[in-house]
Amino acid sequence: MDICRSTDAMRAWRRDAGRTALVPTMGALHQGHLTLVARARDWLDGQGGGRVVTSIFVNPAQFGPNEDLDKYPRQEAQDLDLLRESGCDAVFLPQVSDIWRPGAQTHVQVTQLGGILMGRLRPGHFRGVATVVTKLFNIVQPQAAAFGEKDYQQLTLITRMVEDLDIPVTILPVPTVREPDGLAMSSRNQRLTAEDRAAAPVLARALDHAAESVAMGTPVSLLRRQIRAILSTEPRADIRSIDIRDARDLSRIAVVGGPVAILLAVRFGDVLLIDQRTAHP
Ligand code: PAJ
Repeated sequence: MDICRSTDAMRAWRRDAGRTALVPTMGALHQGHLTLVARARDWLDGQGGGRVVTSIFVNPAQFGPNEDLDKYPRQEAQDLDLLRESGCDAVFLPQVSDIWRPGAQTHVQVTQLGGILMGRLRPGHFRGVATVVTKLFNIVQPQAAAFGEKDYQQLTLITRMVEDLDIPVTILPVPTVREPDGLAMSSRNQRLTAEDRAAAPVLARALDHAAESVAMGTPVSLLRRQIRAILSTEPRADIRSIDIRDARDLSRIAVVGGPVAILLAVRFGDVLLIDQRTAHP
């Protein structure tokens, strides 16, 4: 597995690499990320072969001033071992100064999708995501890139951006990978106390129940009450938001007509967990 620690090294590797698929990450890798690597490999195999590149870059531009950029887990040696085992071909590990150069003035902003839901809770977050993903696409020039459904708004926004800006990258969505008890895998799970870790699967239970309710035609207002009731059975769960949206563009819906996305944000102690499911009436 090749390791490229600068933009120049990545571009040099890219010159003879042929078809590539990119997996953008911030490291602290787990089985969810490795499933994205496997999805990228499958896609390449379907195209006649190619190379998988994973990027590891904790992107300061997507963290707010009160968010703990410094506390984001960094475990490079372990990440590289996991990527080697999963058959990744190259890793792009740029320095912050390589990506964010002084004097830059250009940003990518997805106007509507970037301002709602998590974008309201975290102003500037999605501008940072859209800009860094555009830069990664321009440096690595992949034919495809894999993103997890766990960050459903991010996936929807990147899909919109690629279409709006005619970026020639196929977006590969990957279903959320879960622990055996249903908790969505996340690097944040490491920060949960034992009690909170035991309580956290309530998110998945609420989503499973909601998906069944959608299939039975339950109205949106009742659905929200049902989800709140299930989450409230867990006193440690501090509910931050319950959103039921059109799965295609995350617009508000009054009645369930097509596919819906159910998005939850719940705090346990000082750890904010997010999870989502799509469901069909
Ligand atoms: P990060 O949180 O490291 O996630 C990298 C990718 O892994 C994202 O596409 C995310 O949706 C996916 N992922 C995380 N947990 C998952 C799970 N349990 N199942 C399936 N996929 C999962 O998202 C980011 O980094 C950044 O915003 C990034 C896109 C790299 C831009 O900086």
